[in-house]
Amino acid sequence: MNLADKELQFDKIGYWSEVKLEIIKRYGVEYSKILTATRFDHLYIDAFAGGGHRIARSTNELVLGSPLNALAIKPPFKEIFLIDLEPAKTSRLRDVIGDRKDVHILEGDCNKLLLETVFPKVRYEKYRRALCVLDPYGLHLNWKVIETAGKSRAIEIFLNFPVADINRNVLWNDPARVSPEQAARLTTFWGDESWRDVAYSSEGELFGHRHKEPIEVVAEAFGNRLRQLAGFEFVPQPLPMRNSRGAIVYYLYFASPNKTGDRIVRHIFGMFRDRGVSSGS
Ligand SMILES: C[S@@+](CC[C@H](N)C(=O)[O-])C[C@H]1O[C@@H](n2cnc3c(N)ncnc32)[C@H](O)[C@@H]1O
Repeated sequence: MNLADKELQFDKIGYWSEVKLEIIKRYGVEYSKILTATRFDHLYIDAFAGGGHRIARSTNELVLGSPLNALAIKPPFKEIFLIDLEPAKTSRLRDVIGDRKDVHILEGDCNKLLLETVFPKVRYEKYRRALCVLDPYGLHLNWKVIETAGKSRAIEIFLNFPVADINRNVLWNDPARVSPEQAARLTTFWGDESWRDVAYSSEGELFGHRHKEPIEVVAEAFGNRLRQLAGFEFVPQPLPMRNSRGAIVYYLYFASPNKTGDRIVRHIFGMFRDRGVSSGS
């Protein structure tokens, strides 16, 4: 590790984040193989790309992050778009990847860059298709991005539904105590305020307090939004990703206009769904 790498302070990732990287890589290989055999141009988009590497907590070794996994896929994607907000991360990506015509590294807020610069290059009628990875740490994504991907019919997504951030900052037992700023972050991610009715049911209302639904109920309603509002035809059951104590930290969603993609991801999710917190048990 050189000095710049030390300054960057790579995230340490646990077992389930390694699983997530493995799932995206396996699907990326199949996706690229299938699309290469057609007349479509296929793109890979990593909107919260990071600096290229992470550190596996289990071994303390550097492991490839999602953008470098995508770069290694054969046959290759036609073009690759990598976005990160932090200059230290984009500059490290440039160092590691070097100057390549097929790779575009963009610095800034992906919510703006995807809608204004990247998604307009993936036009259905121009025979262009894309696999887009949306892997924020928390509630940093705007629903408009998800909706635009779905409505394009040309973009499929892996999406991190950030349960830990949602539970820690917004879905408290007493919603009246939550700050309006934190509630607004969930509204931006969710697309409107309907999460309030999903998460707090008036059934069994006790002394004016609404009952808080389990996160599974909230996640299922989000899946319905991906289908019904964003218009993704295929949204398999998301994969719960856990911490070392077994608590759900986020759900990994896949959403696609494509039946074959759905079949492949159901198969891959199935291989990992009933794993324990840190092993194949
Ligand atoms: C969980 S990490 C992504 C890790 C990456 N998928 C990997 O496998 O290495 C999230 C990244 O999103 C970046 N980020 C946060 N907000 C962002 C935004 N609005 N637009 C673009 N990047 C953002 C952070 O700087 C961080 O590098």
